[in-house]
Amino acid sequence: MAVPDRNMALELVRGTEAAAMAAGRWMGRGDKNAVDGAAVHAMRNMLNSVEMNGIVVIGEGEKDKAPMLFNGEKLGTGSVPDLDIAVDPVDGTRLTSLGLPGAISVVAVAEKGSMYNPGNIFYMDKIVTGPDAIDAIDIDAPVEDNISKVAKLKGKSIEDITVVVLDRPRHEDLISEIRRVGARIKLIPDGDVAGALLTCKVQGGTDLLMGIGGAPEAVITACAIKALGGNMQCKLWARDARDAAKAKEQGLSLDQILRLNDLVSSDNVFFAATGVTDGEFLEGVRYQGKVIRTSSLVLRSKSGTIRYVEGIHKPAKLKEISDIDYSKGL
Ligand code: FBP
Repeated sequence: MAVPDRNMALELVRGTEAAAMAAGRWMGRGDKNAVDGAAVHAMRNMLNSVEMNGIVVIGEGEKDKAPMLFNGEKLGTGSVPDLDIAVDPVDGTRLTSLGLPGAISVVAVAEKGSMYNPGNIFYMDKIVTGPDAIDAIDIDAPVEDNISKVAKLKGKSIEDITVVVLDRPRHEDLISEIRRVGARIKLIPDGDVAGALLTCKVQGGTDLLMGIGGAPEAVITACAIKALGGNMQCKLWARDARDAAKAKEQGLSLDQILRLNDLVSSDNVFFAATGVTDGEFLEGVRYQGKVIRTSSLVLRSKSGTIRYVEGIHKPAKLKEISDIDYSKGL
């Protein structure tokens, strides 16, 4: 009889919980960098205790010049397994700094060499859908075709379809087109990882995510979508001629369709996310005096298991075993 192997995501969730608890202290205080800094410190601290030889392939910071878990950084104890890490200590730093919903802390790991590296191209065009419509999407097809195919596979009318779109001027045409077709739109101010997860929520009201968002976030999203059984396609997106030239220099094609397996080729992907502020998928951190409550999602693609983990943390006890004071968030 095969022995069940290790579920790394159950260890990673301690990292996202720690980052969410630290970042959540900065909610509404108008300081995006403090949100990120607190989360990065807590996440790094926790992930370094995980038995792995991890290397950050998808980090953040360069884009924002914020405190970083930088690309190439080693995380973990240094012993096997060798892993690629995709991490965003807070996807939605601005949301958190303004106290708006939809911010999450996320991390994913997979076998070394299995995650796509977008180099220094910051954006990707994305289309994401859930398990009921995996054969419906084609990033090169017109918006109308994608929406009508998803509607057909889900047994819905076009008017029943809801598309998540980042609220950005660059999406003016996309938004007009979705409206012309007759589908509903959920505009989000930030946080397209959480936005994409909504397409896979059982009995959720969201069917598609479309539009241009961060390239690192696309790889992180792919890890989650693979584990949730949905589908996703992307294309690198150049803001201007300089971006296009940079892509060319790095041998990256702007025309290539990046499918789920191009974004993360491993079939053994682990993903954890914890709510920082309230969202449709996960509740935000609750500070309740003696305890702090967290709400997390823990996924493993090989088994397809989806876990919701409710954490009850005791800051006074944590203070004895950690250098982070979660009762203050410093
Ligand atoms: P951060 O919180 O990590 O800064 O990312 C927020 C985010 O909204 C992502 O979810 C999204 O992919 C990206 O920024 C979009 O970039 P931009 O704000 O430049 O349009």
